Amino acid sequence: MSVLRFDMIAKLDQAEPLAEAIRSELVQVTAVFDAQLESDQPCVNALARHIEHYRGKMLRPMLVLLSAAATDRWPAGLARILPGHRVLAATVEMIHMATLVHDDVLDEAELRRKGRTINALSGNEAAVMLGDYLISNAFHLCSSLGDPRLNLALGKVTNTLCEGELVQLSNRGNWELDEPTYFEIVRRKTASLVGASCELGAELAGANDQVSRALGRFGEDLGIAFQIQDDVLDLMGTDDEVGKSTGRDLAKGKLTLPVVKLLRGECSDSRVRALDLIQSNDAVGLRAKVVESGSLEAARNVALGLVHQAKGQLACVPPGPVRDLLHTMADAVVDRSA
Ligand code: FPP
Ligand code: MG
Repeated sequence: MSVLRFDMIAKLDQAEPLAEAIRSELVQVTAVFDAQLESDQPCVNALARHIEHYRGKMLRPMLVLLSAAATDRWPAGLARILPGHRVLAATVEMIHMATLVHDDVLDEAELRRKGRTINALSGNEAAVMLGDYLISNAFHLCSSLGDPRLNLALGKVTNTLCEGELVQLSNRGNWELDEPTYFEIVRRKTASLVGASCELGAELAGANDQVSRALGRFGEDLGIAFQIQDDVLDLMGTDDEVGKSTGRDLAKGKLTLPVVKLLRGECSDSRVRALDLIQSNDAVGLRAKVVESGSLEAARNVALGLVHQAKGQLACVPPGPVRDLLHTMADAVVDRSA
């Protein structure tokens, strides 16, 4: 049985009908998720159980459910959440888990959500295979819906996020990385799945193209803002505060928005000094430099601007508690320390 930690819902008043409804849906999404991964091989179950502690925010499943509910007025919108949405929500979470398990191998990370990563616990071979098992199960589960459009759309997303990772990989140690390339990486590796969670959730609820696309854009903007904040935490936070291995971007030669802005905004002398900090993996010095130069604040402002833009995308959905909760979630992705 999974540990249920729906952080966003925990912040809401439990008596609220919307919080109650989403909480109960998420319990069922978790049951679908767990049932799908059940194997007749005990060693597979033992490994799959490790990822229970990876689940926390359940951001993507919540977005699937809320995007469905957002397609009609409150409270009629709740009836737009169909049994298929639980399957879709479990599918996107499983894809997300697969990417995290593989990402921790690439980043040689030892800590995630305050627990040891699969690669740290069981080695890279087990982590690669568990990631494969998760991605394979995600598409198996999605196929049970009998709607090839969903498989096609999610297959395109997994292609896109692999491309994002490959572009990122090919730019490791590229100190000339520019902002368009940074945003291209982030849009593909993170925002594509968040956007699809919203768009497909709405589509499955029977929304028209205009509403589905608007929710998709909401998710994409939110996903980019989420990744910028993730990158800020990796640079500025400690393992204890963030609950995962921090400083991995610097260690792996991955430039993120505050650092791209720092390198682009400096005169040649300061740029040489900043590059020195990066190349010698001097996290303390680099932190001081991004603060002092204003590039950290500039990156944070970009994230805040994207949250504002995301909320604007929802102008075409009916006002009410569902839209309010989507707005709250948009604020929460940049207002977090873990
Ligand atoms: C987080 O990056 C990584 C992603 C959002 C995508 C990772 C995708 C892959 C490794 C491709 C795997 C593909 C499949 C289909 C299994 P991060 O390191 O910035 O985030 P973190 O701080 O949470 O580690
Ligand atoms: Mg990582």
